[in-house]
Amino acid sequence: MTVALRTENLGKVYRVGFFMRRVEALKGLNLEVKPGEAFGFVGPNGAGKTTAIKILMGLHRQTSGSAYLFGESVDNVNARRRVGYLPERPYFYVHLSAREVLHFYGQLFEMDPAVRTERIEMLLERVQLTRFADVTLSKYSKGMLQRVGLCQSLLHDPDLIVLDEPMSGLDPVGRALVRDLILEQRDNGKTVFFSSHILSDVEAICDRVAILVGGELRESGSISEVVRDRESLEAVLVGEMTKTVDESKLGVL
Ligand SMILES: Nc1ncnc2c1ncn2[C@@H]1O[C@H](COP(=O)(O)OP(=O)(O)O)[C@@H](O)[C@H]1O
Ligand SMILES: [Mg+2]
Repeated sequence: MTVALRTENLGKVYRVGFFMRRVEALKGLNLEVKPGEAFGFVGPNGAGKTTAIKILMGLHRQTSGSAYLFGESVDNVNARRRVGYLPERPYFYVHLSAREVLHFYGQLFEMDPAVRTERIEMLLERVQLTRFADVTLSKYSKGMLQRVGLCQSLLHDPDLIVLDEPMSGLDPVGRALVRDLILEQRDNGKTVFFSSHILSDVEAICDRVAILVGGELRESGSISEVVRDRESLEAVLVGEMTKTVDESKLGVL
């Protein structure tokens, strides 16, 4: 069976500021996600999760290495035909309603109109937005917008769903909904790859996890393998997070 997602020595260097300072966001990342698994991509802020996801989605170009979706290089647009994507901060046309936005995306995906309508109504119902489907998004809360984003990522019934921090900033009900949707997709044979900076978010859901710190893979494997020593792992996640915050403060000063 073809692996759903694969990176080989994936590297990314950003150049920032007038002096083109090097920021090495990814340092030779090797990942492999099998079809049908829910895979958690965990790391503190600044670890490089979004960078890796953007490369997979063709939004950024890697500096070195390669990445594949269902065996096809991400350099090829076709690789993303079977992929749904929820960005870290989804952006929508706020003057449209949820129903209108989803029809807009469905048209971009070139979905058959009847199939599109059926799928949109089913998804709106699933995330409990039917009642608000004709309200413009400018009136939506963050949690409601996230639910629209989830519908969008599932619209064309993709085989691989990539979610960047799908639970961040959500209340417990919102988190439970995301968790249930991920599990449903996996139970339907889909592959789900999602990032989080909170270990407990992925623990309840994932078949396997990878821990990314400073652009490098710290560990990967089943939850029980990776969370052998919870305290030291959480210290790494929290410790690195504090370090990142301090560094950013220094940058401002
Ligand atoms: N567009 C960009 N330009 C310059 N540096 C960036 C850019 N995007 C991310 N970075 C830097 O790359 C590192 C990894 O960031 P990111 O991939 O957003 O991590 P995460 O999603 O794990 O929080 C950070 O040091 C961040 O400041
Ligand atoms: Mg991120």
